[in-house]
Amino acid sequence: MAARPIIIDCDPGQDDAVALFLAMASPDELQLLGITAVAGNVPLPLTERNARMMCDVAESDVPVFAGCAKPMIRPAISAEYIHGETGINGIDVFEPQTPLQEKHAVDFIIDTLLSRDAVTLVPMGPLTNIATAIKRNPEILSHIEEIVIMGGAMREGGNRTPSAEFNILVDPHAADTVLNCGRPITLMGLDVTHKVLSTEERVARIGKLNNPVADATVGMLSFFHRYDTEKYSSQGTPLHDPCTVAYLLQPDLFKTKLCNVSVETESELTMGHTAVDFWHVTKRPKDVNWAYDVDADGFYELLTERLARFPLP
Ligand code: RIB
Ligand code: CA
Repeated sequence: MAARPIIIDCDPGQDDAVALFLAMASPDELQLLGITAVAGNVPLPLTERNARMMCDVAESDVPVFAGCAKPMIRPAISAEYIHGETGINGIDVFEPQTPLQEKHAVDFIIDTLLSRDAVTLVPMGPLTNIATAIKRNPEILSHIEEIVIMGGAMREGGNRTPSAEFNILVDPHAADTVLNCGRPITLMGLDVTHKVLSTEERVARIGKLNNPVADATVGMLSFFHRYDTEKYSSQGTPLHDPCTVAYLLQPDLFKTKLCNVSVETESELTMGHTAVDFWHVTKRPKDVNWAYDVDADGFYELLTERLARFPLP
């Protein structure tokens, strides 16, 4: 079976970086056409640099494009308090060999979609690039196979405000555009990502792989875990973004349900809230595949097995 063509849109971010590694380790299943960076965890100059660093670490020649530097309407917010000043604290930053492509990420998304069919978009940061592409050229919609998003929350509550998960909160208007675009959407919210915790035992297993990608993963997780473990008194940090790629590789790890998911774009109190109509109490269309459970051990078995595929130094 031919590898599934995908574009990963991200804001690295330690968890974005691990998602990139997971996709790069799976060329038989996923054809990574390009990586588009967006402002999110840290500003765009850092997220695009960090994405290029991960290409160097993984010795990948996937092209990297810089996208939108701020949300469509809302003022920009970021998350250095979680990810560190570099966005990928836990490893030493270096100037990557991987070049930044000239083309804007939104133009890359549009051109790629118009030139081929059935591309899966995998956004794991604020949805600004994706929404901008859709608004600029709605013709791309029929070329989108599926959009598998990391974002939102239901029972878990918000992580940046009591009501909102960070990716949706940064650009709720973009999220509203994407969630209502009419293409098949799978949404990996905090309700599943908070169940895939990078416990010491799980990180130790990755540490035993002894290749540069696994070492970078352990280094980044060693920093990334401290905020969430303290905040939630949990046994490790949630590996949010790799859930999207794991879903593409092994969907049966997840339990999902078709629901309506609507985004708050008016109230300051609940801005960015994802109203997941799990029990279908409204007549709003059930047009989002909402992930609500995951086999965490199976997730880490998949991640560890794939990270083991990278060559030893
Ligand atoms: O709320 C978690 C999400 O926000 C993850 O994608 C993380 O990388 C940040 O972008
Ligand atoms: Ca992210």
